[in-house]
Amino acid sequence: MKKSVYIRTFGCQMNNRDSEFIGGVFIDKGYKLVDLPGEAGVILFNTCSVRAHAEERAISSMGQLMHEHKNRIYGIVGCAAQALGEGLFKRLPGLNIVCGTGEITRLPELVKEAENGRVLALEDKDALLPELKPTYRQDKDAAYVSIMRGCDNFCAYCIVPYVRGRERSRSADGIISEIRDLAGQGIRDVTLLGQNVNSYRPKAEGRRSKAYGFVELLCDVNKIDGIEKINFMTSHPKDATGALFKAMKNLDKVRKHLHLPLQSGSDRILKLMQRGYTRGGYFDLISEALAVIPGLRVTTDIIVGFPGEGEEDFGKTRSLMEEMKFDSAYIFKYSPRAGTEAAKMPDDVSLRLKKERHKTLLDLQRSISKGKAHEKTDCCHCT
Ligand code: 5AD
Ligand code: SF4
Repeated sequence: MKKSVYIRTFGCQMNNRDSEFIGGVFIDKGYKLVDLPGEAGVILFNTCSVRAHAEERAISSMGQLMHEHKNRIYGIVGCAAQALGEGLFKRLPGLNIVCGTGEITRLPELVKEAENGRVLALEDKDALLPELKPTYRQDKDAAYVSIMRGCDNFCAYCIVPYVRGRERSRSADGIISEIRDLAGQGIRDVTLLGQNVNSYRPKAEGRRSKAYGFVELLCDVNKIDGIEKINFMTSHPKDATGALFKAMKNLDKVRKHLHLPLQSGSDRILKLMQRGYTRGGYFDLISEALAVIPGLRVTTDIIVGFPGEGEEDFGKTRSLMEEMKFDSAYIFKYSPRAGTEAAKMPDDVSLRLKKERHKTLLDLQRSISKGKAHEKTDCCHCT
């Protein structure tokens, strides 16, 4: 078998970073990364299971590849592997490896095992990935840095805590030394990644006390020579604080951008979603952030068609979006995920209505974003 790997990534930035990590693990074992599946001995799909659509897309395109390229080792890794497990071998009879989110460090070993039969590795979803050096990076100017893994929030619709495990934070020393190395390699722009970065809380180490959290980490990263821009995602409204906004204002390298998923503008739906804040609380939080940080960009995520979402609930989301005037918004149609709390509720908003509400909010956001772009252009003309 050729010692070359093709990795295709589905889903979020966290997955992109995991794919780079997997690439680094293979390079370490003497493999070459290739851009075309036809050139690879090992074909891996790093999957997403946040919505059914992403899962289905990965499975069907792998089926297609298996048809085109025989005698390869095929692996499904990441979130969908963790969620669907052994069942994937039935859906894709040519599949050799199913590797969960916590086992990706072992992939080169699993490839060897797969030469003698199917391999299922789902054990360690709560593992914190080891610190690996040197790691492979796709981009020469910008880099993603995972600061934590997993999530403890268990929002009713979300599969992440089940497939990525409980929340655990990397050590601040590990993160800072990784970013120093990146700066040494010429990287100027870093994005700190976590499902909920505001609850970053590493175990106490050295001079760092128990109170060391995300704001303190931002201050330390801001001091690193060579780094010019710092971004972070994602924040949860229930954990974003005034201290974070002050830090964003005062730290010169931190981008003035907050991605703060709203999900719904209806208190009734927010409660069913188990989000831990209200419409009013969200509004006040953004107002505070905008007052503290001049020129702040605010972006969000919205779900339409959550179980029980009536016209009145939807209207509240629409009116809050009109009031908030987000700079941009990702709008998703609710899709039930097995094992979550919401999957026990009837998926009672029809697909036709989900599509209609999705389009209404997309059109609304497009016109808001266009208006904001005009405001900015007008502003440039004045100066
Ligand atoms: N259905 C639709 N959208 C979802 N998201 C998470 N789970 C689901 C689901 N089951 C959306 C949320 C989250 C974003 C990453 O994906 O808006 O913030
Ligand atoms: Fe999912 Fe909620 Fe965790 Fe975000 S905060 S990953 S939506 S459970």
